[in-house]
Parts: sequence; structure tokens; C-alpha cells
Amino acid sequence: MSALSGRRIVLVVTGGVAAYKSAYLARLLVEGEAEVRVVITEEATNFIGPTTFAAITGQPVVRSLFSSGQVSPHTELGRWAEAIIVAPATAATLARLALGISEEAASATLLASTAPVLLAPAMHTEMWENPATQRNLALLRQDGRSVVGPETGALAGGDEGIGRMAEPEVIVEALIDLLAGPLSGLTVLVTAGGTREAIDPVRFLGNRSSGKMGHAIADEAARRGARVHLVTAADRRSHPAVDLIRVESAQEMAEAVDKLDVDIAIMAAAVADFRPKDPRGSKLSRSEGPPDIALEPTPDILSAVLSRSKRPFVVGFSAETSNISRAVEKALRKGSDLTVSNDVDDPGAGFGVDTNRVSIISAEGDVEEWPLLSKDEVAARLWDLIQSRLNP
Ligand code: CTP
Repeated sequence: MSALSGRRIVLVVTGGVAAYKSAYLARLLVEGEAEVRVVITEEATNFIGPTTFAAITGQPVVRSLFSSGQVSPHTELGRWAEAIIVAPATAATLARLALGISEEAASATLLASTAPVLLAPAMHTEMWENPATQRNLALLRQDGRSVVGPETGALAGGDEGIGRMAEPEVIVEALIDLLAGPLSGLTVLVTAGGTREAIDPVRFLGNRSSGKMGHAIADEAARRGARVHLVTAADRRSHPAVDLIRVESAQEMAEAVDKLDVDIAIMAAAVADFRPKDPRGSKLSRSEGPPDIALEPTPDILSAVLSRSKRPFVVGFSAETSNISRAVEKALRKGSDLTVSNDVDDPGAGFGVDTNRVSIISAEGDVEEWPLLSKDEVAARLWDLIQSRLNP
């Protein structure tokens, strides 16, 4: 998995000779498992064809505001993008962007987006040093645009000097820095879903957990730049950058968790406390009459993580039925850094619904009640809280 896995990147190619290098840049992005869409200006097609980019990215290339068949390609791409690279960015492009002129697809996409922008200028030295270009660049930096390069070296027509577009590898590094979120550099484990404990090959003991809360927490961590391992018993999708490890039983979950060395562990799974002691190898038959199912305890995954010699920051979950004092007592006994408690009797909270009403219990037993929120909002607030604990 690379830092770019699943990230949605728009590459805007404008009309300079360095445009030929942008094909290699597109390839590096695709190799890094980013999703890449290209917008190309008419001027750029003098140097490189859209077919090249379509072949590299496997996606149609946007050339014009009107010919793509889409109603509004610039706003659609602008909203889709997690970051936009302009490479090469010509002097004319910088001038247009500095003034907010948006008469064609490339500059309109940039104006229609709130995503971070990385500019890779390329032009002759005289054009680069011209006060107009430097003024435009200062404006763009003021607007929060990032700039990579230009470098000094050979320019078009046998000239030498500053103005050469940064090499594609350097642009990729700058993009990774630009995308780095508050959790970048940290490895996160999330457990999610309700485990299934086999009675026989067909039947299991299970619970009502949908995995929505855990998946929302994992997705938000990925959006904030963490490397995320999601060990889940739920049949749900996740953010493309998440390492999704599907398991079924508490035992499989414990084994998968055991292999992962992490900085932060969020134990949102509803793990069965007991499992059938001797699951049958073949299907139980009605004619045998009701079976006696002897149970045995499952491994306590949370406790195993808490007793590691290299102990991560641990967030436990606690599903209670109208009893916060039991949740506080349990939080203090277990010793997690934070415990998220939800009352599964509350119609807006808990299993299967999109909302949650939780209380946060600190390691000291202090309780903070949060209002009814969507599970995505709970995930975002939880990460804000964890970040503030890690960097007080
Ligand atoms: N948990 C776990 N492994 C288990 C059981 C629970 O990792 N075998 C984790 C859950 O993911 C959750 C926390 O422990 O983060 C609390 O789970 P919960 O079922 O509420 O508590 P229990 O430990 O089972 O305690 P009790 O049965 O007394 O409520």
C-alpha cells in the first residue's frame, strides 16, 4: 500500500514542452494506486495527446467544458478531487489562476474546487523572473497554493537556466506531503462488526452489530492520513486506502490483531464473549433433537492489546443497556485510554442505525456526553479527541 492508495488526484496539463513528462507523472500516480483524472488544455495538445493520458489512467480525459458529454465536468471533477496538480503550469496558467479567470476546463476545474493545489511551473528563465510572473506566484501562495520547482537545467530550444519543471518523482513527493493529514505517520488498528461463533457449518452464535461505527472510524483515520488496518467481521466496504482484513470468529479476530504492530487501537467490534466449545463438523439435524451447546470463553482481544509491552493508545467500546455506571466501572477496570459507551436501548444509538449517541469515559472515569450525531460525525469527533490527547 502506498501513501497515494485510493487518493483521488486531478492532473491538469497545460501547454509547455514539459507536458511530455506529465505522462510519466500520471504513470507514477497510477503505480502508486491513486485514482487519476486528467484535464488537458488545447495548448497542451500541441505537445502531447489526450489518448496517451487516457491509456495511462484508464479514464477519459477532459479537454473542454462542453464536449465531454457531462453537464458540468469542471464542478464534478473539482468536487471529486482530493488534490489537484498543475504540471506543467505555464506563465499564462499562473496568471489565469492568480486572477481567477476560468474560461476553459483546466482553470474552471481549479476555480470550482476546494482541494489543495500543487503547481509545477515550467517556462523560460526570462518568463519565470518577470515581475508579472513573480507577482502572480506571490498571489497564488497567499491563496494557499503549493509550488514545487522549477529547477535549474536545460530548457527548450537548447537554453539553460531556471524554469525547468520539477522531475515527476519530486512532484509525487510534494503531493504526498500536501496530502499528509494530522494522522500521517501513525498506524491505526480498528476492529469492527459482530463476530460469528460456529455451532455447526451452517449455524452460528452472533450479535446485532452492523460494523458501521468501526468502519466510519477506520475511513476517517484513512482520510486523516493514517495507515489503517481494519479487522472486521462485517460485510461492508471501506475507504480504498484501508487495509481490510475480513474475519469471522473472535479467534480469527484475535489472531489477525496479534500480528499488527500499531500506534493506536480502536476496539469497536462486538466480540462474542463465549463460543460453542465443540462446534460440529457436520450440520446438526432436527431429528437428533435440541442440542446441548456447551460454551467456552473467547480470547479477550482488548486485554491482550492492553498488556502488550509496546502498548498502543487504546480506545475501548462498551455497549450497555441504560447503565452508564456499569460502563464507567468497566472502563476503569479494563484501563483503556478512552472508552466509548453507547446505550443500545436508545433508538438513535447502537446497532444498525446511521446515528449514535455516545458517552466518552476518560481513563480517570470522567464522563462526557455527546449529542445524537451521525456515525461519521462521531468518528470525526473521536479522532479530534484522540489527536488532542496525543498532542496536548
Ligand atoms: N472485546 C474484545 N474481546 C472480547 C470481548 C470484548 O476485544 N472477547 C472488546 C470490545 O471490542 C470492546 C470492549 O472489549 O471494545 C468491551 O466489550 P463489551 O462486550 O462491552 O465488554 P466485555 O469485556 O464483554 O464485558 P461485559 O461482558 O462485562 O460487558
